[in-house]
Amino acid sequence: MKRKKTVITSRGAAAHAPRPRAPQPPRTPVVPSSILRLPGEKLRSAELADERAAARNARNAPAAAPAPATPLPPLAAVDLSVDLAPRRDGALVLRTPVMAAAGTFGYGVEYAELVDVERIGAICSKGTTLKGRTGNAPPRVTETASGMLNSIGLQNPGVEAVLERYAQTWAAWEVPVIVNVAGESVDDYVAVVRRLDGEPGIAGIELNISCPNVGKGGIQFALDADAAAQVTRAVRAATQLPLLVKLSPAAQDVRRIAQAVADAGADAIGATNTLPGMSIDRERRRPFLGNTYGGLSGPALKPVALRVVYEVAQVVEIPVVGIGGVASLDDVLDYLMAGASAVQVGSAVFADPLLPVRLADELEAWCRDQGMTSHRELVGAALPGRRDRPSMKGAEYRP
Ligand SMILES: Cc1cc2nc3c(=O)[nH]c(=O)nc-3n(C[C@H](O)[C@H](O)[C@H](O)COP(=O)(O)O)c2cc1C
Repeated sequence: MKRKKTVITSRGAAAHAPRPRAPQPPRTPVVPSSILRLPGEKLRSAELADERAAARNARNAPAAAPAPATPLPPLAAVDLSVDLAPRRDGALVLRTPVMAAAGTFGYGVEYAELVDVERIGAICSKGTTLKGRTGNAPPRVTETASGMLNSIGLQNPGVEAVLERYAQTWAAWEVPVIVNVAGESVDDYVAVVRRLDGEPGIAGIELNISCPNVGKGGIQFALDADAAAQVTRAVRAATQLPLLVKLSPAAQDVRRIAQAVADAGADAIGATNTLPGMSIDRERRRPFLGNTYGGLSGPALKPVALRVVYEVAQVVEIPVVGIGGVASLDDVLDYLMAGASAVQVGSAVFADPLLPVRLADELEAWCRDQGMTSHRELVGAALPGRRDRPSMKGAEYRP
């Protein structure tokens, strides 16, 4: 597998923007130091000068202000890097903890004109299956209060076509591309992963286990600890690529599922996929979506996914990625404090494709303001000292 380097150019630095909730005076765009050097690499003197200039701008010093009598002390670099597969010797190190979620950022190439994709932590591709799929009957998407419902049905051209069309482009990128894999049987998943294994441009695998397990009466893998472990173990045996397994928020005791996939060899856990929901077409007096059910995503999902992150982070040793309703720096901070090492931005990308880059910049600025040298200090800051009770025991009513 091609080992991804962690240094990129300063392209796209103009994407910096002030944090929406706390407007700041305009300042000169600052290239986050974390993306200019490898983690741990020393600042060069020219960079130090830039850092000082940035500090002055941040304090809104007038351009013509005289230089301070004593030089400013060098600002510590903020290291936003995150290792999503610590068991695999740095095989999946992201430059920032803000990723693009599966199914909402295409194959990355669609956005390459608009966004400096190299400044995204990692890109999760659309769900990829062994054979191409046309997806579900329309309508497939609808808005809901504080969110959206989708029933795309994993439309994709199949793994062969995905490799043929996109792998070469991905191989030329520094940003890790993680292929999201779906299937209806353990053999399906394994066949897709075998085909991806060793292909240049594939930095990792993300298993979408919110799929019907045809061999077990169609119950989702993600809702059954044994099935979740079985598919994870089989895929683990088929590849050395970093492996993320994405949980469903609908699991009754998500901690059991998380433990099962961690024990079966997952390198990281994604929490969460969408939550099953539906919508009614009142004119026609029937379900709105062609598929009746759809997956709820967006801000409405965040408290649920946040709770899953909080529960899972207490029972596994591997990194957890927070996914669900990330749309602002506050959301990123909440997920980190609940125990996530990174986050993915999904539905919010439709409104603002630059969001993953902007949130990383805002996180860096926030850490700097707090005098922190890494966001990693925040990870799990809100976790209890002793393991908290599971949410399935009295989430709303506590005797
Ligand atoms: C239109 C759409 C398509 C999606 N496709 C996939 C997919 O192919 N595989 C997958 O694991 N998750 C898929 N998801 C789920 C997202 O990756 C993410 O887990 C979910 O939307 C929650 O994040 P959000 O609230 O930021 O959107 C999809 C979501 C949306 C909205």
